[in-house]
Amino acid sequence: HAIPRVALRAAARRGDLQGRLSVEASGGADLSGLFDEIRSHGAIATTRVGHVSTRHSACKEVLTSDAFKTVRFVPDNPLLNKLVAWSASGLIHPIEPPSLLASEPPDHTRYRKLVTRVFTARAVEQLRERTQAITDELLDGLDPANPVDLIEHYCGLLPVTVISQILGVPPEERDKVLALGGAAAPSLDLGLPWRTFRTVEATLAEFDSWLTVHLEKLRKNPGDNLLSKLIAAREDGVGLTERELKATAGLVLAAGFETTVNLLGNGIALLTRHPGELAKLRADPDLWSNAVDEILRYDPPVLLTGRLSARDTEIGGARIERGAIVTTVLAGANRDPEIFDDPATFDVERANARDHVSFGAGRHYCLGASLARMEGEIGLRSIFERFPDLRLLDGARRRETRILRGFETLPAALA
Ligand code: HEM
Repeated sequence: HAIPRVALRAAARRGDLQGRLSVEASGGADLSGLFDEIRSHGAIATTRVGHVSTRHSACKEVLTSDAFKTVRFVPDNPLLNKLVAWSASGLIHPIEPPSLLASEPPDHTRYRKLVTRVFTARAVEQLRERTQAITDELLDGLDPANPVDLIEHYCGLLPVTVISQILGVPPEERDKVLALGGAAAPSLDLGLPWRTFRTVEATLAEFDSWLTVHLEKLRKNPGDNLLSKLIAAREDGVGLTERELKATAGLVLAAGFETTVNLLGNGIALLTRHPGELAKLRADPDLWSNAVDEILRYDPPVLLTGRLSARDTEIGGARIERGAIVTTVLAGANRDPEIFDDPATFDVERANARDHVSFGAGRHYCLGASLARMEGEIGLRSIFERFPDLRLLDGARRRETRILRGFETLPAALA
């Protein structure tokens, strides 16, 4: 999503839809009216600063089409070249190649093959028991006699502990990984102010040095973790290079951390605010898995993503010129009445909740989707079972981030 912030702000002042989206998104505001307005312009709304869509079919088409590449890919776009200049430091960045998210075939195909060989459904299932144990431990640490910030003491801790298992991080280094992950998460947000960008860059440099040492340790002493398996994985005799391994580990940390914290926080907020839906889950715990998808549909952790058109093309009758950016608003597609009846209603029994696009679509579809669903189900179900009287207190605050959407603090009484 590489349109400069100043341009978006100026466009917003003129009422431009894409400009408004970018300015109004901050702080988790309710954007459903704006989503509807954008949708009323057809498959794609063409604005002064770019193309934007909140239609489910158009977003899916853009994300799955070969005519579009991830934002970093088309090299002759002047806006992007500016971005490349600021990231020319050689640091491994989650939205720079060789990160999966910034690579395209044939490289992407090769990385993805190797990574999915390790990141199998079975591997995720094997993490289930461990995730439940981590969750129970975190819940044991909560004192029901006192109010607690659930982001700091629960939602914010579960995903990083699971990622630490995946990356083979020893317990004594978890706090460091937690701090680095938290500070690196904004690297996924291209609209960063300059100062935040510098902090993120420093964090990435620190993560890089830590990874150099960590990978060396795992090479000498492979453990029962996915990163050790990825080091050993080969496709036609070829494995990932050091730089590719680092990019993958960094992306797993950046993409799997705050997103999952947001899923848990948004889920707790939604369920406490919809006691009728929570009652349904209590009566029939088999509904939890569907409820997690409905939470992802209704309040997705990632607001939007974007693609660059690699050639002149057409989506739903709208002309898209080569080099143009199309913003696919995942949260808006999730409210498309063509696909979801009564889209503004939060309904844990919704039959097609899983049709949301909160994990993207196409070749960049979220690698961690089944892991995130598993963490969401265990994390949410366990806290509501352990503390049936859980209620939110005043002071809940959303993060100011534009693309990643979730809570900064979620004060709660547990009993
Ligand atoms: C890609 C969302 C959790 C790893 C994506 C994309 C989305 C997304 C929307 C596609 C971005 C695009 O196409 O531009 C989410 C959400 C999560 C979540 C909402 C939690 C609820 C995770 C976890 C991991 C992870 C736990 C850790 C393994 C990745 C990776 C990619 C990705 C590696 C890039 C895949 C590729 O480019 O081939 N995620 N994610 N995500 N996600 Fe997730």
